[in-house]
Amino acid sequence: MKLLQMLQGVRVLEHVGGNPEIHGLRYDSRRVTPGDCFVAVHGFKRDGLDFLDQALADGAAAVVTEHAPRTGLPPVAWVRVADDRAALSRMAANLLGSEAGGVRMIGVTGTNGKTTVAGLIAAILSRIAPTGLAGTLGMTLHGVEVTPFPNSSRLTTPESVDLFEFAAQVASRGGRYMVMEASSAAIALKRVADIPFSLGVFTTFSGDHLDFHHSMDAYFRAKLSLFQNLGPEDWAVINIDDPAAGRIVPELQCHYLTYGFSSGADITPRDARFSLRGMRAVIRTPLGEAQVESPLLGRVNLLNIMAAMAAALVLKIPLEEVIAAVAAWQPPRGRLEPVHRGEFAVVVDFAHTDRALHQLLSSLREVSNGKLILVFGAGGDRDSTKRPRMGQVAAEWADFLFVTSDNPRSEDPGAIAAAITAGFPPGFSRFKLELDRRKAINAALDMAGSGDTVVIAGKGHETSQIIGDRVLDFNDAGVVREWLSQRGLVEA
Ligand SMILES: Nc1ncnc2c1ncn2[C@@H]1O[C@H](COP(=O)(O)OP(=O)(O)O)[C@@H](O)[C@H]1O
Ligand SMILES: [Mg+2]
Repeated sequence: MKLLQMLQGVRVLEHVGGNPEIHGLRYDSRRVTPGDCFVAVHGFKRDGLDFLDQALADGAAAVVTEHAPRTGLPPVAWVRVADDRAALSRMAANLLGSEAGGVRMIGVTGTNGKTTVAGLIAAILSRIAPTGLAGTLGMTLHGVEVTPFPNSSRLTTPESVDLFEFAAQVASRGGRYMVMEASSAAIALKRVADIPFSLGVFTTFSGDHLDFHHSMDAYFRAKLSLFQNLGPEDWAVINIDDPAAGRIVPELQCHYLTYGFSSGADITPRDARFSLRGMRAVIRTPLGEAQVESPLLGRVNLLNIMAAMAAALVLKIPLEEVIAAVAAWQPPRGRLEPVHRGEFAVVVDFAHTDRALHQLLSSLREVSNGKLILVFGAGGDRDSTKRPRMGQVAAEWADFLFVTSDNPRSEDPGAIAAAITAGFPPGFSRFKLELDRRKAINAALDMAGSGDTVVIAGKGHETSQIIGDRVLDFNDAGVVREWLSQRGLVEA
């Protein structure tokens, strides 16, 4: 494709050096091959222009930047654009959009529940046709991990080009759907700006990531933009229990379905029973009632199941297929994951906001007979306003708390813990401070008695702990299994 054709729809401020034929689009200089266009994105930590020489040495035929290189104009085509990320996204759509044309794009956004809902939707759609899934747990097609893209596979939402490349792969393998977790950061960074979503799902909204978006309002508007881009042919699926729904629905120009426990939701449960083995519920839908069973734990997951059912209905998937897929789908690693169900139960979860913690603990309170013993902390270098709120919620809902470290990153673990305990009510004493996460988990397991539930929250599936700039091997479920195997409670 010619450079100018690829630039269609991009705000170009300056263009010199002709209109070469472009082979590929790269934002990572290490992946540049001859004939590629290199978009030098200036990021938070690094400026793509620092890698210009390498990109040129590797044969870049064109360079797109927001600022003129200090070292002088490159000896190839050079384009200055108003917004490098917007340009990257648009150029990716121009270059790869038609290859991905036949694939229906489904975006899941919200503060919590994205991974679970996206995974469920993909599991349902996979019964009909090959389905791509991109999110926190990687990029998979039919449950098989596809070529991880360097630098982006770790992000909840990969870069725009990676998403289009993935969509093109999904299309080339006969796929019909692609389900994506769209984090608000990804939306704000224009990673999904040109993804032609035909369905957007809203899960929840609460104050996380304020470090990145600075204000609740900016954070909310980032989420909203995905829905504002849906046209009259498209659909939205909205959690009507969340107060933010009232601000999203008036903005919609597309069809929509609502779900939730609230009366008036299009999709709502009539009779729900929860246990440590899972749940069963009768769910009312516009197409009739469905008797649903699932191994997922807790009320919060019933919401996620309803979100996925709503999406499936929009996509005209037969209800029997939906029910069968939901019954078979196991929780993703670290999302209300039952790691042990013996005399006492152990659940590992990713909740790392006050809202998610509240949902988690209230859900588990409902299914466990004994004490709820919680192990948790809060990440460093991230929104610090949530720490006392997390402390408050934990003190209210759990019977005993171990306050420990999450990923302290560059912050002092003791100071983070102090910010959490500052949220406790005066005189609160049902907690222990143990900054060593392994010791905290072991102590919680030592304390557990018959019928109790130990909840380890915050890190979910993660396999490392970031302390300072050291990245240590660490996995909550792994620590639990070690403890269990030492006591002969599980095969090592
Ligand atoms: N619908 C929901 N509402 C509130 N909290 C939820 C919901 N679904 C899951 N959670 C909590 O949030 C955590 C993260 O869930 P996940 O599906 O990974 O969401 P995300 O991808 O948005 O981070 C879960 O471990 C659970 O504690
Ligand atoms: Mg996620």
